[in-house]
Amino acid sequence: MYRIMRIAIIKYICNLLVSIVLLLETSTCQMSDRTDLDQDNPRGYIAEEAMVVSAHPLASEVGVDILKKGGNAIDAAIAVQFALSVVYPAAGNIGGGGFMIIRSNDGSIYSLDFREKAPLKGYRDMYLDSNGEVIKDLSRNGHLASGVPGVVDGMDKAHQKFGTLAWEDLIQPAIDLAGNGFPLTRREAIGLNNNQKAFIESNTISPDFVLREEWSAGDTIRYSDLSETLTRIKVSKRAGFYEGPTADLIVSEMERGGGLISLEDLTSYEAIWRDPIVGQYKDYKIISMGPPSAGGISLVQLLHMLEPFPLSEYDLDGAQYIHLLTEAEKRVYADRAKYLGDMDFFDVPIKQLLNRTYNENRMEDFDPVHAKPSDDIFAGEPLAYESSETTHFSIVDPYGNAVAVTTTLNGGYGSKVFVGGAGFLLNNEMDDFSIKPGTPNMFGLIGGDANAIEPEKRMLSSMTPTIVEKNNDLYMVIGSPGGSKIITSVLQSFLNVVEFGQSMQKAVTYKRFHHQWKPDHIMFESGRMDDEVKEDLLVMGHKLMIRGPYSRVDAILVLENGSLEGGADPRGDDAASGF
Ligand code: GLY
Repeated sequence: MYRIMRIAIIKYICNLLVSIVLLLETSTCQMSDRTDLDQDNPRGYIAEEAMVVSAHPLASEVGVDILKKGGNAIDAAIAVQFALSVVYPAAGNIGGGGFMIIRSNDGSIYSLDFREKAPLKGYRDMYLDSNGEVIKDLSRNGHLASGVPGVVDGMDKAHQKFGTLAWEDLIQPAIDLAGNGFPLTRREAIGLNNNQKAFIESNTISPDFVLREEWSAGDTIRYSDLSETLTRIKVSKRAGFYEGPTADLIVSEMERGGGLISLEDLTSYEAIWRDPIVGQYKDYKIISMGPPSAGGISLVQLLHMLEPFPLSEYDLDGAQYIHLLTEAEKRVYADRAKYLGDMDFFDVPIKQLLNRTYNENRMEDFDPVHAKPSDDIFAGEPLAYESSETTHFSIVDPYGNAVAVTTTLNGGYGSKVFVGGAGFLLNNEMDDFSIKPGTPNMFGLIGGDANAIEPEKRMLSSMTPTIVEKNNDLYMVIGSPGGSKIITSVLQSFLNVVEFGQSMQKAVTYKRFHHQWKPDHIMFESGRMDDEVKEDLLVMGHKLMIRGPYSRVDAILVLENGSLEGGADPRGDDAASGF
């Protein structure tokens, strides 16, 4: 009895100590702007002046160092892009492409398209056999899967227009990481081990780090060939990649592996400044990427369709909300399949698709209790129309400039082909074209003429780097990887904050769901809906498909007191850093 009492007293004292520690932690948190939210909805990383949120802590640190040296958000974005090509080779890259959205502190907005292009020798049916059937995996793995990379020219063009620090200083951190080495995270070690077989099968010359038996978390990895390639880019900017030794190594790699990218493809590649897509949702101005990405148009279409509904009165976890978003998504992805592609090759009806009335009318046949089968949903007729593994980072600098960049190799580690002697992976972005009308790509997306392969055409993307203003002030910087699911991941994270009062961190962490018209099912992350909600959705006529975690939304929210909250997606190694 005496012993039991003694244990109870010890337990009581321990609990008391734990409570005191928790109380102290809570009061520290309260000092950093968390008082407006409850324990279930805590804020993420807070910084007063500047922030970088990216897929890897080392890349976020590189960006913050550039900002501390007085660089602006574009300088930091260039440094982060090159650093990710080293520390996050599954998606960070110099052998792929992407998009950049910029909002400068005077409110001017810009978008840069550095998407890959089909090679000059590419052609519509290049992935079909003599019977017109798709040759399995030809657009996904190996040398024929790669489009002409756009990242290096994109970074060069961004620097020419907005850079304030010397170009060399922006590349040097990536060169140091590649040359000196850095410790692998658990995820990266697993990624390299799991892909070893695919790398060996796809490569004509396997780099040493591929041939090593097994990588573990904490092992130091060095990429010496990549360090030399980055040094050539540091010295000669775009010419260090599209001409000279790097270009020769790419062309030799293509010749050894039967790929199509030629020296002419490389020397003629140009990133393009385009008008961003701008839309309005309530008090929020959405600034996002236009074609060749579907991201901006589809996001604005979705928000137009949803705005008439009182979303904040809905239960975020209930069937009614999931049903509404799903039905809007089916209509928008049907439009995506028919109308979106590279507007340099296909007449994309941008104005018509962004017309509020058009989008609201698309929801006229919305039934609040019954799912409409995808086979009964078709692309709309936009008014007066006559007739097409990724990673994201968000940056805000101390001067109030903001940058959102989404960049991709397409699948994890792209085509799996390392350019022999140059040490970087090439993309498998050709699979983002519609390789045969009605045949799904790796994300299950289908398409037609708008996104058919043509020489030098850019393949349709879903990347949605987005900057949001509220009442003319910077409010949010957001984006995500996730293929077709990028658009709905950005949409839901945005709505979680503006309609449901979530902190930025909770909004990006929150479980997601997705519908893309075809295949006709709601894909949802395990834990997104309880059994009762599933039952309700099944009764409405939806089909459900559970899946593992997807997308990695990295975002920054400007709080009312002007400080910044980072939302770093816990589905990856993503990290916010700032000062
Ligand atoms: N590669 C994925 C996308 O661009 O949507």
